[in-house]
Amino acid sequence: MLFSKTAAVRSRAEIEVMRAAGRVVAEMHERIRAAIRPGVTTGELDRIGREVLDRRGATSNFLGYHGYPAVICASPTSMVVHGIPSDDIVLVEGDIISIDCGAIVDGWHGDAAFTAGVGEISSEHRRLIEVTEASLAAGIAATVAGNRIGDIGHAVESVARQAGLGVVEGYTGHAIGLAMHEAPNVPNQGVPGTGAKLRIGNVLAIEPMLVLGDIATDVLDDDWSVVTADGSWSAHAEHTVAIGPDGPEILTQP
Ligand code: MF3
Ligand code: CO
Repeated sequence: MLFSKTAAVRSRAEIEVMRAAGRVVAEMHERIRAAIRPGVTTGELDRIGREVLDRRGATSNFLGYHGYPAVICASPTSMVVHGIPSDDIVLVEGDIISIDCGAIVDGWHGDAAFTAGVGEISSEHRRLIEVTEASLAAGIAATVAGNRIGDIGHAVESVARQAGLGVVEGYTGHAIGLAMHEAPNVPNQGVPGTGAKLRIGNVLAIEPMLVLGDIATDVLDDDWSVVTADGSWSAHAEHTVAIGPDGPEILTQP
C-alpha cells in the first residue's frame, strides 16, 4: 500500500463515550447469547437487540446503513457475515450462528460480533469458534502504539493458519468513531511492519472471519448475505478496541 491513512486520534473523553456505546453492544450480545437455542428465529434475536438499544437510549448504526433492514446481522452455518434476521430463519440443534451488533451513543459508535453454538455442536465447529476467538485475541494483542495495521492482520492470520483454518479475504475490520466504518481498513491478513502506524487514541474494530474450507465467498440475491462458495461453515468474532497508553482496551465489553 503506497498511501496508508492513519486512523483518527480520539481523546480520553471521546473514548469513554465510545466505551458507553460498547457497553450497549456487549449487553446486546449477552441478551442475544442467552436466547440462542434450538427453535429460536433470527428475527426474534433482532427484536432482543432492538429492546436493548431502546432501553439504553442508544440508536442503531446497522439499521438503514445502505438500506440494511435490521439492528443485528445473524449469519448461521455457512453464512459468513451480513445475514439479515428473519422470522422464517429457525435455528436448529448443531448450528453455529454469528451475531454482529452495533450501537451509537451521543454520535459515537461501537461494533462487535461473536459466534455461538446452538445446543450441542460438533467438536470441529467448537474448534472453529475457539480459533476465531483466539485469532481476534491475537489481533487485539498486536493493537498497540508503534505497531502497524499489517501487524494486526499478520497476528490474526497466523493463528488461523497454524490451526489449518482459512481467513476470508475481501471483508475487513475498520477504524471506528463518529462513523461505523472509518479509514483505514483493518485486513485480517498482513505483512508485519507495513501499513498505517498505530497511535494512542486510535480506535479499531478488528473482526476475523474464519472458515473450515475454501475462503471463496458469494453474496446471495438479497445483496447482503455473504456465504462460503463451498458451503463450509464459518465463524466471526469482533471487538471495538482503543489504543491506550498501557495497550489495547476492549470497549465492547460489559
Ligand atoms: N458490523 C459490520 C462490520 O463489522 C457491518 C454491518 S453491515 C450492516 O463492519 F449493514 F449491517 F450494518
Ligand atoms: Co465491524
